[in-house]
Amino acid sequence: MVFSVAVAGASGYAGGELLRLLAGHPEFEVRTVTAHSNAGQRLIDVQPSLRSLAHLTLVDTTPQNLSGHDVVFVALPHGKSGEITAHLPAETLVVDCGADHRLVNSDDWAAFYGGDYFGAWTYGVPELPIGAGKQRDRLVGARRIAAPGCNASTVALALAPGIHAGVIEAQDLVAVLAVGPSGAGKSLKLPNLAAEILGSANPYAVGGTHRHIPEIVQSLRWAAAAGPADPTSAACASSPDATISFTPVIVPMSRGILATATARLVPGTSAAAVRAAWEDAYADEPFVHLLPDGHFPRTADVLGANTALIGLAVDEAAGRVVTITAIDNLVKGTAGAAIQSANIALGLTETLGLTMNGVAP
Ligand SMILES: NC(=O)c1ccc[n+]([C@@H]2O[C@H](COP(=O)([O-])OP(=O)(O)OC[C@H]3O[C@@H](n4cnc5c(N)ncnc54)[C@H](OP(=O)(O)O)[C@@H]3O)[C@@H](O)[C@H]2O)c1
Repeated sequence: MVFSVAVAGASGYAGGELLRLLAGHPEFEVRTVTAHSNAGQRLIDVQPSLRSLAHLTLVDTTPQNLSGHDVVFVALPHGKSGEITAHLPAETLVVDCGADHRLVNSDDWAAFYGGDYFGAWTYGVPELPIGAGKQRDRLVGARRIAAPGCNASTVALALAPGIHAGVIEAQDLVAVLAVGPSGAGKSLKLPNLAAEILGSANPYAVGGTHRHIPEIVQSLRWAAAAGPADPTSAACASSPDATISFTPVIVPMSRGILATATARLVPGTSAAAVRAAWEDAYADEPFVHLLPDGHFPRTADVLGANTALIGLAVDEAAGRVVTITAIDNLVKGTAGAAIQSANIALGLTETLGLTMNGVAP
């Protein structure tokens, strides 16, 4: 069976990456692409790298134009998808790459985003360890999926195994991320001009203000919950919150995130027990890989691939576990996670249309 697909926000970075991956997916056929200021343009004029989709023309992003498809991927600025997806039929699989449906707690939405709160959908990070299983279990059969924030999923994947296994403490987490400017989208913004970025490393959203913080805390609360927890259950809600100091730094690379995330070691825990926690979490995962002891990833190792590579060390003197995680923000950080989650929801092979191999050099 071939599923008919629409992509909203197809002129942007996330939309473009969705289209690149969907063009190679054997069960998905992209039939509608929508945009905002670029509506009416030929897709190939806006996304010249997508030669195999040259027959498509961008149309307005309206519920009407997105109706009549089996699957709709949405890659719009936050606050824009909720208005539109509310009008799509319940049986359509809708995967939102924006933030509108990621947060379970409306107070978090109000504090970090503001505006209308559209409610939480099933979170699209299948590998997150939760209770006796994985977030994957909740994605089976889902028809509304919230793909993750790129920084949020990177840090959550980095730290969740240790919290889930009880070998690191959920308080006093620290994450510093080197991030590429494509994470901020294609629209013109002064801090993202080449003249501001080339030859410089530029911190932003310092001091607990970044919008991905509540999303990270939410994932880590789920990871901490004992038993086969429903993330929205009272038992899970009563798990202690993680506390995290989170600092992103824009660096001169188009794509990629390198997250150094550290946590206090639970006293008395051996280095072997720490490594076993991450090995247990990710041993069978096709896209999330723990590197051997002493090995650490580079962003260049994951470009174009739906992989997260994690290096792990125990700093005995500091009493901290150190994780270094590399992902491509546009693939595992958004479009790849969206397609992987859609595959699971539809009962397809999870890896269809996705690759573990990156582009090098
Ligand atoms: N970039 C990443 O690495 C990344 C990672 C994870 C999640 N995301 C999320 O994915 C979503 C898209 O991000 P992006 O990086 O692709 O942004 P982008 O490059 O700026 O693209 C935004 C898209 O939304 C359209 N758009 C802009 N204003 C609109 C409006 N008022 N109404 C309807 N459509 C509008 C744009 O159309 P026109 O170009 O035609 O105006 C474009 O297609 C965001 O919610 C972002 O948080 C992005």
